[in-house]
Amino acid sequence: EKGAYPYYMLKEVSEQPAVMRRLLRRYTKGASLQFDVKLLAALKDADQLYIVAAGTSYHAGLVGQALFEQLAGVRTTAFLASEFAYHQPLLSQKPFFIFLTQSGETADLRQVLVQINAKNLPSLTMTNVLTATLAREATFALDLAAGPEIAVASTKAYTAQVALEALLAKALGAAKGQAAAKAFDVEHELSLAATGQQALIDQQSAIHELAKEMFATTRNAFFIGRGTDYYVSLESALKLKEISYVQAEGFAAGELKHGTIALIEPGTPVVAIITDPTTAARTRSNAEEVEARGGKVLRIVAESLAEPGDDLIVPALNPLLSPLLTIVPAQLLAYYTSLDRGYDVDRPRNLAKSVTVE
Ligand code: F6R
Repeated sequence: EKGAYPYYMLKEVSEQPAVMRRLLRRYTKGASLQFDVKLLAALKDADQLYIVAAGTSYHAGLVGQALFEQLAGVRTTAFLASEFAYHQPLLSQKPFFIFLTQSGETADLRQVLVQINAKNLPSLTMTNVLTATLAREATFALDLAAGPEIAVASTKAYTAQVALEALLAKALGAAKGQAAAKAFDVEHELSLAATGQQALIDQQSAIHELAKEMFATTRNAFFIGRGTDYYVSLESALKLKEISYVQAEGFAAGELKHGTIALIEPGTPVVAIITDPTTAARTRSNAEEVEARGGKVLRIVAESLAEPGDDLIVPALNPLLSPLLTIVPAQLLAYYTSLDRGYDVDRPRNLAKSVTVE
């Protein structure tokens, strides 16, 4: 039940800190992580991880790619299930497949799972519904523990996927003796993420004002960032387009000058996401290029990199996990834009919660 919330989406956005804490309780015991030893052994044995997903879950998979490579030292690539099914890349010697899916029923993923099961290749499904087809048919399954997600636009499942990927990447990296995994205190980072998300949720009226300033009447919008900020830009654009019908595009900030800057006109809204110290200055200069052409920029910036004039500050967190924070204002920007335009936030046109046909 959505209780006091006007829409499930706002309820589910607000539940994200509790989901982070639930995942910590579910997958940690004291200082150790709790994963099936057989799962860890199968992952250790793999020479490459193939993350297969669609939509929002694919965007969580892109973050997972960075997490598994950097913490566990294993080559990892995220694929769109609908592409992988019919245009399969060359597989490595010992592939391991990770299916990321909120519903566990997405037909595009099932198509891939059937193919890899026919080849007897090992797989894991991370899902919010452990009884679902993709959980039953994969070698292993892990619970996202996000609780039922009712709104069509996925929110808490995305952050649950990123958090669970971080927990598993840490466990795998630790099992492999990776120094980067040892240095990464996943429990501390996820509890910081929960507190930080709450701080952002508490700023929802200010974010509502920003949504009005940026998106009240626009027909298009852009989100830019680099690294994990790029991945969260893709998810931010998807949220805005699916519930507010604004034509939104997320892309790598460095690509702006390779084409998209041609679309910047006076008043064009651009959200710049800046949480990584290695590229912050570059993304800032991209934002200035937008402003020089009259574009309207909203800067979402990590506390440690903040400068006067930044619009929204997100608390400190390892840049690998910053999507857990930066997505929250993006979800709220999309929510309020949809609300102010008078749409049914939870049930956008032409979309179904679970896509069970290819
Ligand atoms: C976006 C959204 C969709 C789903 C996609 C995959 O808000 O809901 O893009 O993320 O259809 O669904 P699952 O995760 O159930 O496989």
